[in-house]
Amino acid sequence: MAKKEQTPENTLFRDIIAHAKEYGFVYPSSEIYEGLQAVYDYGPYGAELKKNIKELWWNTMTRFNDDIVGLDSAIFMHPDTWKASGHIESFNDPMIDNKDSKKRYRADVLLEEKAAEYENNGEQEKADALLKKTGQLLEAEDLEAVRELIIAEDIKCPISGTANWTEVRQFNLMFSTQIGSVSDGSGKIYLRPETAQGIFVNFLNVQKTARMKVPFGIAQIGKAFRNEIVARQFIFRMREFEQMEMQFFVRPGEEMEWYEKWRDARLKWHKAIGIAEEDLRLHEHEKLAHYANAAVDVEYKFPFGFKEVEGIHSRTDFDLKSHQEVSKKKLQYFDPEVGKNYIPYVVETSVGADRLFLMLFCSAFKNEETGEGDKVKTRTYLKLHPALAPVKAAILPLTKKDGLPEKGQEIYKSLKGAFNVVYEEAASIGKRYTRQDLIGTPFCIAVDHQTLEDNTVTIRHRDSTEQERMPITELESYITKATSFNRIYELLQ
Ligand code: GAP
Repeated sequence: MAKKEQTPENTLFRDIIAHAKEYGFVYPSSEIYEGLQAVYDYGPYGAELKKNIKELWWNTMTRFNDDIVGLDSAIFMHPDTWKASGHIESFNDPMIDNKDSKKRYRADVLLEEKAAEYENNGEQEKADALLKKTGQLLEAEDLEAVRELIIAEDIKCPISGTANWTEVRQFNLMFSTQIGSVSDGSGKIYLRPETAQGIFVNFLNVQKTARMKVPFGIAQIGKAFRNEIVARQFIFRMREFEQMEMQFFVRPGEEMEWYEKWRDARLKWHKAIGIAEEDLRLHEHEKLAHYANAAVDVEYKFPFGFKEVEGIHSRTDFDLKSHQEVSKKKLQYFDPEVGKNYIPYVVETSVGADRLFLMLFCSAFKNEETGEGDKVKTRTYLKLHPALAPVKAAILPLTKKDGLPEKGQEIYKSLKGAFNVVYEEAASIGKRYTRQDLIGTPFCIAVDHQTLEDNTVTIRHRDSTEQERMPITELESYITKATSFNRIYELLQ
């Protein structure tokens, strides 16, 4: 049996997953029953971090841009929605089974992984050629040729180690269920595979009720569901996940201009939340989705390679036109500036909240060596942007006596209305600092005997571990400034 190679990247990713579980960020779903593949739960710190990510995205979309409003549409939609959107017909992934291991794979992912292998070996041209060929074959829906390419590239199943492959078949990724009490199939509905369709079917409702003029956008955060064939890499590819999508409605013919604008704006956003420039790249699609005339991914360098975090797509008028045809309801906009009716074109930005979470978590995870000689120690901490960190500050009395806990509680109560702060008095101060480092708390506030005399505390900075003395009266404004979304907004100007 072929074993997964132990590379430093694999080890790093394993450490990241273990850290996420051990420190209350992400747990496998229904773990006491051995879990459910590709479904995860967020623990106390994970829930806070994810909430902050969603709030930042929502605010940057709807507050930062005067021409974007929000929406919260239902997960269940009329089944005709998915006929019109093309998901029943085309929302497929090409799958291939290994006859020996009986394991199922995505044919395109097998080829992408082979290309990544070439890239890692410095064979960039070979990698590019393989990706191009894969894109062309998938575009032409030539599944037999995809199989031949897998065999020609000598791709083997990592479990059985053989190339005993079935033919490549299309597999629809939508989950279905039943609405109401009839069981004859007439109540079959789908769990939405993208949040975008809720925006399209509400386009006119929003335009009219919020009195929006094209160009304008609608932003939404919500759950989406896909019966993914390849369910690995932790929360990278889930079967239940959250999307943050924004559909921007523009005049026909102006879509490429907006597409470029949104591509640049979104790349800037990822840098502004603290992701290193060299870990981000744009990747133009070879194979376009059934609705797009241009598409690009923002990719992040995960420990398992550069992978998509966000997609920016020019969706033409495909969706609105199709919904108009299937629903027989006009979905046109009268543009007073040009004096005519038209179906707007759409540029969408679509990012997974969970994938963003994983990107931030991987980028923040630091294992640094401190000290020298036989005093070298490894310090693990999460270097999360302070505006996104789950806990903003920890209030830590130096000892459990002499009135320090009471003073600590007083400070804790004065700050807890403004931010998520914690109070901790158990264990040594060093251990408590470490615990906060491990969950990415940017500030630790130590209450000591001097505090009782002059109402000052020490504030310890997570990244440098440096400490400074500060009057208690200045804490709230200091932490507010350091953890405010404004620090990110400033970089987006
Ligand atoms: N409305 C367009 C759309 O859904 P997509 O490229 O299929 O496009 C957009 O998905 C984003 O949603 C991806 O870039 C990714 O961040 C997230 N996403 C998609 N499938 C996912 C999955 N199975 N698990 C986690 N996130 C996923």
